[in-house]
Amino acid sequence: MTKKIIILGATGSIGESAIDVVLSHPDEFKVVALAARSSKEKCLSYAEKLGAKAYLGEDSAVRAVEENDADVCLTATVGMSGLKPTLAAIDKGMDIALATKEVMVMAGEFVSARAREKGVRILPVDSEHSAMFQCMQGGGKISKLILTASGGPFLDAPADLSGVSVEDALRHPSWKMGPKVTIDSSTMMNKGFEMIEAKWLFDVDFSDIEVVVHPQSIVHSLVTFEDGSTLAQLCPPDMRVPIQYALTWPERLPAERRTLDLARLGSLTFRKSDPVRFPCLRLVSEAVAAGGCACAVLAAADEWAVENFMKGAIGYADIAKTVEECLAKAPKIACDSLDAVWEANDWTWKHLSR
Ligand SMILES: NC(=O)c1ccc[n+]([C@@H]2O[C@H](COP(=O)([O-])OP(=O)(O)OC[C@H]3O[C@@H](n4cnc5c(N)ncnc54)[C@H](OP(=O)(O)O)[C@@H]3O)[C@@H](O)[C@H]2O)c1
Repeated sequence: MTKKIIILGATGSIGESAIDVVLSHPDEFKVVALAARSSKEKCLSYAEKLGAKAYLGEDSAVRAVEENDADVCLTATVGMSGLKPTLAAIDKGMDIALATKEVMVMAGEFVSARAREKGVRILPVDSEHSAMFQCMQGGGKISKLILTASGGPFLDAPADLSGVSVEDALRHPSWKMGPKVTIDSSTMMNKGFEMIEAKWLFDVDFSDIEVVVHPQSIVHSLVTFEDGSTLAQLCPPDMRVPIQYALTWPERLPAERRTLDLARLGSLTFRKSDPVRFPCLRLVSEAVAAGGCACAVLAAADEWAVENFMKGAIGYADIAKTVEECLAKAPKIACDSLDAVWEANDWTWKHLSR
């Protein structure tokens, strides 16, 4: 049966990879709607090619969901803009292929509860979560999740990163991605977000989630089971692999892609992450430990800081400092409703824009 799909963030890195997957399997998928914020020409041209409706503007994602029916909604916008349309899609009974990790960082508890209540699935698109999800397909009690991190462009740079430019931070060694996630990867905030996302997606204690630096980006993550066995998923870095898996799960479809040549790779290496160079990982652990709406503050402060770093308004080292300051000053807001998540988000933006 042909799967009907809505793509939110269709003109971005994930959106375009998803369109590539869909076009290579025309009998399997039908895209009914695309949403983007401002890339009008690109969005209209994809819509024409796919025979889909195009939505543009700040509220385009919500409108695309509200005005169309689909089996799967691929959420691939950036930051908090993914939350409302994802909830709207869940409410309409669509499965979610989730790329926008901030949705789970800000409101993982509510989004997963709403999905359970509505009987819909949240299928991971992030390569690390897809890897773990693939390792879990045989069942078994999980004792540990191990997320791999490339380490980004500053893995072996001098420890003082205060003079880093936007161009430097956007130079990711193994993945070509949108700007926000690329900057987040360079600070390793992205990896911290992924730990929180993994906690909610797989219902695992935060203390049972580890990060290991793996600069080759070939092992996309690992799962250790209670019998001491650890499974890993490997493939060359290509987001079309996890996107396709999220759209076809529990099946796999053929694809003409580069496969692994292990002998040519020679060796795969792993090491601990450096907590001094990457303070954002510590801030993520502190936000999780603080509880309440601290993770919503964390995500909102990071979104503000990355946006302002890219505009040249703050320096690179100010990203972590901004987040730390917000976490220290934020009022304790009990995370007992989605309204509380919005309140934490609004407090953070107002506090930083004052
Ligand atoms: N790229 C990756 O390899 C990768 C891997 C794992 C996870 N992710 C996650 O996937 C998400 C998307 O990343 P990306 O790299 O694809 O980002 P990106 O290249 O910057 O693309 C973002 C897309 O979202 C659209 N958008 C932004 N705000 C919107 C709004 N309010 N309403 C509707 N559309 C909006 C943009 O439209 P315009 O073009 O019109 O601005 C664009 O199509 C992020 O949360 C990221 O963390 C990405």
